[in-house]
Amino acid sequence: MMICNLLIIMVAFLAASVLGDYQSYLLSPNYYSGTCDGVEDIVREITWNRVAANYTLPAKLIRLHFHDCFVRGCDGSILLDSTANNPAEKEAIPNLSLGGFDVIDEIKKALELKCPRTVSCADIVALAARDAVSYQFGTPMWTVLTGRKDGNISRKSEVLLNLPSPFSNFSTLNQNFVNKGLNARDLVVLSGAHTIGVGHCNLFSNRLYNFTGKGDQDPSLNRDYAAELKTKCPSLAATSAVYMDPITPEEFDTNYYVALKRNEGLFQSDAALLNDTSASSFVELLINPSVFLSEFRRSIVRMGNVGVLTGQSGEIRLNCSVVNS
Ligand code: HEM
Ligand SMILES: *[C@@H]1O[C@H](CO)[C@@H](O)[C@H](O)[C@H]1NC(C)=O
Ligand SMILES: *[C@@H]1O[C@H](CO)[C@@H](O)[C@H](O)[C@H]1NC(C)=O
Ligand SMILES: *[C@@H]1O[C@H](CO)[C@@H](O)[C@H](O)[C@H]1NC(C)=O
Ligand SMILES: *[C@@H]1O[C@H](CO)[C@@H](O)[C@H](O)[C@H]1NC(C)=O
Ligand SMILES: *[C@@H]1O[C@H](CO)[C@@H](O)[C@H](O)[C@H]1NC(C)=O
Ligand SMILES: *[C@@H]1O[C@H](CO)[C@@H](O)[C@H](O)[C@H]1NC(C)=O
Ligand SMILES: *[C@@H]1O[C@H](CO)[C@@H](O)[C@H](O)[C@H]1NC(C)=O
Repeated sequence: MMICNLLIIMVAFLAASVLGDYQSYLLSPNYYSGTCDGVEDIVREITWNRVAANYTLPAKLIRLHFHDCFVRGCDGSILLDSTANNPAEKEAIPNLSLGGFDVIDEIKKALELKCPRTVSCADIVALAARDAVSYQFGTPMWTVLTGRKDGNISRKSEVLLNLPSPFSNFSTLNQNFVNKGLNARDLVVLSGAHTIGVGHCNLFSNRLYNFTGKGDQDPSLNRDYAAELKTKCPSLAATSAVYMDPITPEEFDTNYYVALKRNEGLFQSDAALLNDTSASSFVELLINPSVFLSEFRRSIVRMGNVGVLTGQSGEIRLNCSVVNS
């Protein structure tokens, strides 16, 4: 009897913690059922076709989702073009190497044909990010909650204030995440997206050549790795791109954390994750692929909920790069 009660309590607790993760959200797992059945199949088919022909797209698309969510919430504002009197988010410095816009446009076009004025650009970004990363696994790796509406504002001036910088220390990065309702755990887990894609030399070459302004190297950077990076970024002014995960740069896996533990994190913001005791022990746990995947599922859903517009707020944009007229 007691064991039975205990079981019930445990099951109830587990259910509450799972549901709790979703219940606080304004979005839902089957938002388009009845209004655009098959939406997820269409997004997946187009995304997988594009990724099959271009391996750089998973990194582009998941970064697009991140940049969308951290500036004005996940409202598709990253997709808007500048207008005569308003430079858009796209124009800001961290837009360097943003990409995948054409994939979003191709999906939008197909969805406007199938179910006009129904699926938001913000939801397309979230779905395409999931599908692009999932291509490697042949199956969707996390649930995307949908029902986001599109915003009608995109300002270049808001980007630097909201996006974390690759030069930041742990406490500043943590604050960037807390400002979005996320936490240190999300910071460590979502940084794991740096298991794919590239970073440009100018964002870390200070660590190689002039860390404290005395022509020195960052002592927290692995010396052999630094030597290798110097061949790819021959001077402070170099602008080429380097893979962020030196072990398996194109696989979505946990080698980002393996490299990080060897002091081979590319940016100061990566290395900073070792500079906080509990973050650093969490990094250790995330080397286990099943721990990483279950944590990533949870954190990316939390990120996808940041500042969303729902119901009567926002619109379903007809063209992802311009607000409806
Ligand atoms: C913790 C704070 C973060 C900082 C400071 C940061 C910073 C950066 C920087 C500076 C780059 C290189 C851009 C370039 O050189 O063109 C980059 C690339 C990238 N970031 Fe982050 N990032 C952070 C978090 C995230 C998150 C949360 C995600 C996604 C969930 C993400 C996904 C990516 C991906 C996939 C790339 C590679 C893009 C490509 O290959 O084109 N990052 N990040
Ligand atoms: C990034 O901003 C620059 C100007 O700062 C602009 O020329 C470029 O087109 C922008 N990139 C994207 C992808 O919008
Ligand atoms: C792959 O996609 C990226 C990002 O959109 C783009 O810059 C690049 O030109 C594409 N490569 C090919 C071969 O199409
Ligand atoms: C982190 O960086 C911020 C901003 O540069 C600075 O004010 C703060 O003192 C730094 N924190 C630590 C622990 O170094
Ligand atoms: C290194 O940094 C110092 C201090 O900011 C600066 O005076 C010096 O010019 C830099 N060296 C190079 C090679 O840029
Ligand atoms: C980590 O902290 C130490 C001292 O607390 C500091 O010297 C070092 O620069 C920090 N590293 C990073 C990447 O923030
Ligand atoms: C932008 O959206 C807000 C809120 O949905 C709305 O009140 C406003 O009229 C819109 N502005 C433009 C220029 O469409
Ligand atoms: C969307 O708007 C942009 C900017 O006005 C335009 O270049 C593009 O052709 C439009 N796309 C579609 C599918 O109408």
